[in-house]
Amino acid sequence: PKTLRDLADARHIHIGAAVNLDALQHDHDYSRVLSDEFNAVTPETAMKFDALQPQPGDYTFQQADAFVNYAHQHGMVPRGHTLVWYSALPPWLQNGSYSRDQLMYILKDYITKVVTHYKGQINVWDVVNEAVDDDTGQLSDSIWLRGIGPDYIDMAFRWAHEANPQAQLFYNDYGTEWSSKKFDGVYSLLQGLIQRGVPINGVGMQMHMHTQFYPDNATVLQNMQRFADLGLKIDITEMDVLTSETKVDMPTTLKIQADIYGTVVKDCLQIKVCQSIVFWGFTDRYTWVHSDLHRDSDQPLIFDKDYRHKPAYDAIVQAL
Ligand code: XIL
Repeated sequence: PKTLRDLADARHIHIGAAVNLDALQHDHDYSRVLSDEFNAVTPETAMKFDALQPQPGDYTFQQADAFVNYAHQHGMVPRGHTLVWYSALPPWLQNGSYSRDQLMYILKDYITKVVTHYKGQINVWDVVNEAVDDDTGQLSDSIWLRGIGPDYIDMAFRWAHEANPQAQLFYNDYGTEWSSKKFDGVYSLLQGLIQRGVPINGVGMQMHMHTQFYPDNATVLQNMQRFADLGLKIDITEMDVLTSETKVDMPTTLKIQADIYGTVVKDCLQIKVCQSIVFWGFTDRYTWVHSDLHRDSDQPLIFDKDYRHKPAYDAIVQAL
């Protein structure tokens, strides 16, 4: 039977998963299923600030390089994730006190070194991640906003572009599939970037979703269309569909989950500028929903813990 990768290749789109480096290095089934089923990969943690610059001026690329090498050995497209975020910062940065000029230096140095290190190997970057507040749509608090000011976003894109003019540069966030202050805030941020001539190519819609509360599909499509009308590409960057607050039985929940996955994949295929769909993991054996969100019995992904296809997998096959 054809894999998701076969189907995606035939459609000339990317279908991918976030990679847990520890699982990749220790679980043979994990690495086999990953390279059989996907043609794109995003590092779940290996390319965040705390991983790449744990001490001031001390860059450690080993794990991130291992990720990129795995991708290239298997003919998969790696995504750079993520250059500027409020989270995953090393203690020295989190606890230090820096002037505006110092923070600008730190950020420019980081973006320049990392993007340059992967020039020719990583052609798409999530430059700024989750910079908009859910409730107000304003820029959300971070050391970057506090220390540099709202123009840190423009600077980040310009520095990334200078370091690799060929790279596709994305703004990435969650919650933009709803009709909400969050969507409006992200939309106006993107509009401003474009008006100011900031080099941005696309918007990542993370799509962390839930079987119990999910948006009307007309809204999802409408929001995608509004982003597309700004002239941006749209990538689905971190999709998963949480199950743990479900009020119905598990077979029904997994059917709802399958419908949500299938619908989002179909939406993406319908919008010309949507050419990449990445899930935030692929097996319920390893997911941030367990480790970070502490929903221990959640089953958010498309393979079960034993690497069997779930209904969501079949729905994606149907959609592709
Ligand atoms: C998460 C990882 O999955 C976890 O392993 C890590 O501990 C924290 O970060 N939005 C993002 C991702 O953009 O980078 C986050 O990844 C999940 C939410």
